[in-house]
Amino acid sequence: ATERTLSIIKPDATKRNLTGKINAKFEEAGLRIVAQKRIHLSKEQVGVFYAVHKERPFYDELCEFMASAPVVVQVLEGEGAISKNREVMGATNPADAAEGTIRAEFAESVGENSVHGSDAPETAAEEISYFFAGLELVG
Ligand code: CMP
Repeated sequence: ATERTLSIIKPDATKRNLTGKINAKFEEAGLRIVAQKRIHLSKEQVGVFYAVHKERPFYDELCEFMASAPVVVQVLEGEGAISKNREVMGATNPADAAEGTIRAEFAESVGENSVHGSDAPETAAEEISYFFAGLELVG
């Protein structure tokens, strides 16, 4: 079925001017960018987004990093978009990411790993609504 997923191009990638190269990977995989904006999140805004990781030892570092520079938040649409996007991103840790994936090519570490993607339909819907109003999604 056609799905939508929330994607974030993280500060390590926006700082290195990789937005276009990363978007090319999504488009080559058949994912359509139906909404996109560049924003600089506050640490509080990141904290709410990643609240599910609140108890993890890396939570504070994660919030600092995601608020350290602009990010590009986007909605990707396509057949099986949630799992397709996870394939294109590659494993969370770039050391484990398959060749040709975004994280294998661009990520610097498990924390500074260039992209985020929703992991399931329920989280995708929640994450999309955190950043976008319905009228901003143009399929
Ligand atoms: P993401 O898919 O955005 O969801 C949570 C993020 O936490 C994850 O990508 C990683 O970038 C980050 N993360 C996971 N494990 C670690 C870790 N051990 N140290 C720092 N950051 C981590």
